[in-house]
Amino acid sequence: MDWSLRFLVSTYLLCGMWSVISAGNALAGWDSHFGRAPLLERFSWKMLDFAYPDEMSRQLAISKGEFIPENALPVGIEIWRNKLFVTVPRWRDGIPSTLNYISLDTNRGGSPKLTPYPNWAQNKAGACGSGMTTVYRIHADVCNRLWVLDTGTIGIGDTTVQACPYTLNVFDLTTDKILRQYQLRPEDINQNTFIANIAVDLGKGGCEDAFAYLSDELGYGLIVYSWEQNKSWRITHSYFMPDPLAGDYNIGGLNFQWGEEGIFGMSLSPIALDGYRTLLFHPLSSNREFAVSTRILRNEELAKDSYHQFQVLEERGPNSHCTASVMDENGLQFFNLIDRNAIGCWNSLLPYTPVNHAVVAKHDEALIFPADVKVNRGILWMISDKMPIFLLSSLNYTDVNFRILTVPVQEAISGTVCENTPWRYINNRIWWDR
Ligand SMILES: *[C@@H]1O[C@H](CO)[C@@H](O)[C@H](O)[C@H]1NC(C)=O
Ligand SMILES: *[C@@H]1O[C@H](CO)[C@@H](O)[C@H](O)[C@H]1NC(C)=O
Repeated sequence: MDWSLRFLVSTYLLCGMWSVISAGNALAGWDSHFGRAPLLERFSWKMLDFAYPDEMSRQLAISKGEFIPENALPVGIEIWRNKLFVTVPRWRDGIPSTLNYISLDTNRGGSPKLTPYPNWAQNKAGACGSGMTTVYRIHADVCNRLWVLDTGTIGIGDTTVQACPYTLNVFDLTTDKILRQYQLRPEDINQNTFIANIAVDLGKGGCEDAFAYLSDELGYGLIVYSWEQNKSWRITHSYFMPDPLAGDYNIGGLNFQWGEEGIFGMSLSPIALDGYRTLLFHPLSSNREFAVSTRILRNEELAKDSYHQFQVLEERGPNSHCTASVMDENGLQFFNLIDRNAIGCWNSLLPYTPVNHAVVAKHDEALIFPADVKVNRGILWMISDKMPIFLLSSLNYTDVNFRILTVPVQEAISGTVCENTPWRYINNRIWWDR
């Protein structure tokens, strides 16, 4: 064996050993309590930082108050190819960019700085029409489009200022250019509107057959946007409202009341035999899930008189407030259980009842307030951010506060009720079809 070959072999061995050790450390950090699947802590931060072109411009931004590191809280994630998107709302001053990403090619762990997407200029607050002000949860579809609702707001709660109108931005991820910009109509929103979540429904007609559903958490509505018609409409239903008995929370050692939080998490089933998906949704202050066919939502006329088309599913049980949820192409739903520092699963082949739910990830430090959850190429991604402590108390910035964790879906559901069903729809029908 000549020197160069020996060099390659020993480098290979060293690299192999290094990755085992580093994976070991990450696993040792946060072994999940459940099943045999440990959570992998991919990224973690005490405080967020942004990828300024150089340290001088970063220091200048800090000195001018344009960047106040302790004011930045990440709330949403999305994964597309080698990009991990991270959104940061402008709830307080000093947030330089709301839509950001981390390159998964160059960042294998640690606390990477966030890079504005697609650039700094398009993240300028209050630059209506050209810049995004506040972005919460986002969605990348299989047609390489990124769906981003800019709420146009600065502040949170009573301090909120509507700097720009609610605007849906759809990016072409292959070119980083905006494909579509659509301002919600005044009739789509109301005095209380607060929209922090989006679901994207691709129908059997392919990429052009797309609808976005926007959940109005405090205005209690669902706004539908049709890509083909370039048009929106608002649906109202009493199931969008919170359960008045479910507004009390105990999270991260704090007791607080979020009694007004209505429709929030949404997930879409695979396309059923009738050609439509089912939208599953839940108010945040509630332990219940509801369902409606997209056949109803997609048709402005049908949606108008649709009270009886909405279905009530069973309650998840106590302490099961849920923020985001997602369903993969096999009909497996994952949902954030914020009271339990956990992520739950449900296999939609089975009726929606607590015995058919399982916890796939739980950690009382690493998963305090799971804010978003996604599935990408068989991997479950989650972000936790201690949001109630940020909002109601204060974060300890010598501690890790924000984490992005992953676990392979198959390992996560292994041994739980979520895997005990064949990977196909029986007779190609889902149980809630009528
Ligand atoms: C969609 O509608 C908006 C407002 O109604 C308009 O400004 C925009 O140009 C339209 N876009 C397309 C692609 O038709
Ligand atoms: C902040 O976190 C550090 C590290 O965990 C801990 O040593 C310290 O006591 C905490 N400070 C407060 C005020 O809780």
